[in-house]
Amino acid sequence: MKRIAIITSGGDAPGMNTALRSVVRKAINHKLEVYGIQRGYVGLLKEQIIPLDSRSVGGILNQGGTVLKTGRCSEIRTEKGIKKAVSILKKFKIEGLVAIGGDGSMRAAERISRHGICAVSIPASIDNDVYGTDETVGFDTAIDTAIDAVDKIRDTAASHERIFIVEVMGREHGFLAIAIGIAAGAEFVIIPEIKYDIKKICNELKNQVKKGKTSIIIIHAEGSGDVYDFAEKIQKAINMEVRVSSLGYIQRGGSPSARSRVLATLFGAHAVKLLRQGKNNRLVALRQGRVTDVPYSQVKGKEKKPDKDLYNLVKHLAI
Ligand code: F6P
Repeated sequence: MKRIAIITSGGDAPGMNTALRSVVRKAINHKLEVYGIQRGYVGLLKEQIIPLDSRSVGGILNQGGTVLKTGRCSEIRTEKGIKKAVSILKKFKIEGLVAIGGDGSMRAAERISRHGICAVSIPASIDNDVYGTDETVGFDTAIDTAIDAVDKIRDTAASHERIFIVEVMGREHGFLAIAIGIAAGAEFVIIPEIKYDIKKICNELKNQVKKGKTSIIIIHAEGSGDVYDFAEKIQKAINMEVRVSSLGYIQRGGSPSARSRVLATLFGAHAVKLLRQGKNNRLVALRQGRVTDVPYSQVKGKEKKPDKDLYNLVKHLAI
């Protein structure tokens, strides 16, 4: 293999730049030529492909977002889009592809890999919802960002003796919400995967107040329904002031944490190793503390499930 390309796609995640730097420099170490695809698959289909050298990735390790830029692309989900992407990659004589992103990026890379281009994926998403890896690049940073905000909100909750419902990201999954709930010592976590019983929650809240709690934090993942409806129901049942605070995109940005940087760097180096070995269609992964890889066929179509013990631990500690 002589020439590889890197793409960042889907929602940006802190550490994408760190992974990019690692891939570029590790590949250059092994005398590979490296190209960067700009603006995700949208940019690929527009031939926005530029050569990268060691200097192109200098000073980016600690920057959030992605210097290659990213985007969401509907055309790449079609067979026509895949064929076009493959012919563009071949035109640029690209033999290997590293896709940095979430599920959607992986799916496109897998389809591209069926057409004579070796493709591997690096899981990067603040949601940590990629099946096959215990952790995605950016997840740890997003937890840090959110708990910093929740700690501040707790000051107001405690001073005013209020219930705060903090909406965090997670359109389909609650991994981020659970981790924030644990790390910030929330009283409840509401996630899309587990149905909640509003009556039960209100009863438990009342019990907690009876036992002397004067402020409450509830972490509500955005995919769990309208947070204001939820707040209204709580407000009706409990004689305490209720406020909603939505953290939004603040969770996606910022300088990657030490853990996200190390993970991204190791993932990047592993991706290059796989391409050099001619290993196709694999997901770089963290499993039981080790950086490894899994065939995409073992991951395809599978959904990562939340850890119920962790979810319950939030409740068990909120007594
Ligand atoms: O990166 C994942 C995620 O943050 C989800 O939790 C969220 O719902 C989604 O991206 C929103 O991203 P966008 O508005 O960029 O599509």
